[in-house]
Amino acid sequence: MKALILVGGFGTRLRPLTLSVPKPLVDFANKPMILHQIEALKAIGVNEVVLAINYQPEVMLNFLKDFEAKLGIKITCSQETEPLGTAGPLALARDKLIDDSGKPFFVLNSDVISEYPLKEMIEFHKSHGGEASIMVTKVDEPSKYGVVVMEETTGQVDKFVEKPKLFVGNKINAGIYLLNPSVLDRIELRPTSIEKEVFPKIAAEKKLYAMVLLGFWMDIGQPRDYVSGLRLYLDSLRKNNSSKLASGPHILGNVIVDETAKIGDGCLIGPDVAIGPGCIVESGVRLSCCTVMRGVRIKKHACISSSIIGWHSTVGQWARVENMTILGEDVHVGDEIYSNGGVVLPHKEIKSSIPNPEIVM
Ligand code: GDD
Ligand code: MG
Repeated sequence: MKALILVGGFGTRLRPLTLSVPKPLVDFANKPMILHQIEALKAIGVNEVVLAINYQPEVMLNFLKDFEAKLGIKITCSQETEPLGTAGPLALARDKLIDDSGKPFFVLNSDVISEYPLKEMIEFHKSHGGEASIMVTKVDEPSKYGVVVMEETTGQVDKFVEKPKLFVGNKINAGIYLLNPSVLDRIELRPTSIEKEVFPKIAAEKKLYAMVLLGFWMDIGQPRDYVSGLRLYLDSLRKNNSSKLASGPHILGNVIVDETAKIGDGCLIGPDVAIGPGCIVESGVRLSCCTVMRGVRIKKHACISSSIIGWHSTVGQWARVENMTILGEDVHVGDEIYSNGGVVLPHKEIKSSIPNPEIVM
């Protein structure tokens, strides 16, 4: 079985992290976002993943080469010369997606994180006999998503409205699709949107079906949602009794710590923290609701909450970093510095406090 992941877009909403790597390679819970998806696809029998990409394919492929062998899955790129939106890339990759079996294929947005009930989705797709299945989830603020109006019992979609101005419902497109090859006959090779141009038509013909996603879901393409996404992800690890969660007197709530990270004495860590490979957390540090990426050093008695600390950065002793502070790669925050919502571009040294949210270039 095959799958295509939409990995285009510049990830501007996740800067400064996306200044160092393409959005799908930004770490989430100690591994690149896209690996969560590739692993879930592999687990249900997908053997070839096509990455629909519109810039830096080398970076992505170089990185994923290792995982191809490790996971035993074929990963190829389909590169656009101009951004083709969310449907055009499917037309471009047509030959890679169709094989003799006529089997349906998966399409995933690259910036969503969830429990991926893909096996159940295949069963659902077989049971309704329509042309396309989409996964939906309930949210409080549907206007920033694609909204789906469906028949509760059968899942048949009556209407698909992308980013509606007026309220039509609170079930939204989760960005996970299973499509029959015939859907490709509906897509021209040009910049075009699956949400605006393809799904509404399939829905009008009563051939689009939606399955409600059980468990958590989050689009982690923006810092605030990324931080909440980590909380939901760790909650779900806890519910599934995962052995990946850290434990001990210095751990509070749900925390993951890479086995190569070192934690000093007298720290208090959690809830909702991810500490990446090779990190050094010195003594007396307090961390909550934050991600600390690979190779970071946090010096004595620093306090970090609701923030993301990018790769190989350092946070000085007694520093206080909070309120959606996002440090890009290789940022160095001095001793006793305070950052309230500072968004700091890569390779900077912060020598004076950032009392109010601002971008530091
Ligand atoms: N290859 C390629 N080319 N990929 C693209 C392009 C492009 O031109 N434009 C966007 N993408 C990819 C993005 O990388 C992302 O994985 C996916 O398509 C969706 O684009 P976003 O920019 O993240 O869209 P969104 O979050 O505003 O809305 C989409 O996702 C929501 C769920 O998170 C829509 O699918 C909504 O209907 C949906 O509810
Ligand atoms: Mg998105």
